Amino acid sequence: MDFQDLVLLRQSVRRYRDQEVEQEKLTRCLEAARLAPSASNSQPWTFVVVTDTGLKDKVARQTYDKVVNFNKFVGEAPVLIVFVIEKPKVITRVGAFIKNKEYPLIDIGIAAEHFCLQAAEEGLGTCMLGWFNEKPIQSLLNIPESKTIGMVVAVGYAAEDYKQRHKTRKAFKEVVKFNAYK
Ligand SMILES: Cc1cc2nc3c(=O)[nH]c(=O)nc-3n(C[C@H](O)[C@H](O)[C@H](O)COP(=O)(O)O)c2cc1C
Repeated sequence: MDFQDLVLLRQSVRRYRDQEVEQEKLTRCLEAARLAPSASNSQPWTFVVVTDTGLKDKVARQTYDKVVNFNKFVGEAPVLIVFVIEKPKVITRVGAFIKNKEYPLIDIGIAAEHFCLQAAEEGLGTCMLGWFNEKPIQSLLNIPESKTIGMVVAVGYAAEDYKQRHKTRKAFKEVVKFNAYK
């Protein structure tokens, strides 16, 4: 697919079909994430793939509560990917300290987008989730408490009648500046 078309096609999907995701498609998405760039090539990530329905439901339940329930749709997705942040290489940690940058968070974001773009190419829907209860998910998936979960991504086939939305974005001129900020 033309890359710009793929970028336009990927959107956050918030209603899913009751249909399994083929293992080979999932593997290609994970491979795209694995191949993502990272600061000093640290690859500070582990992708925990949650396919077991009972477990997946429990993890999904930790992305919303009674009051803040905009993520309730997550329960419909057949697969959840939990992006665990690993300690980067020493050189990256030193660089991050000197330059005051959160490289692993940047890296995780890139890996997640690689995953989601490949998923779009495979005809799958995704939604990145930054709103979740970290500690219960760590406990459900046996993730040490010393680690951080950067993101959860919901994956599945979009509901049959799910529409492609127009992209709501700031205007090109507002976000792109040539040669100087102002
Ligand atoms: C870091 C991050 C966290 C996000 N967290 C959530 C979330 O918890 N729930 C949700 O429904 N969407 C979440 N989103 C999706 C954004 O709302 C969405 O990407 C944005 O509105 C643009 O829409 P689009 O993805 O359809 O192009 C998140 C996206 C990012 C990048």
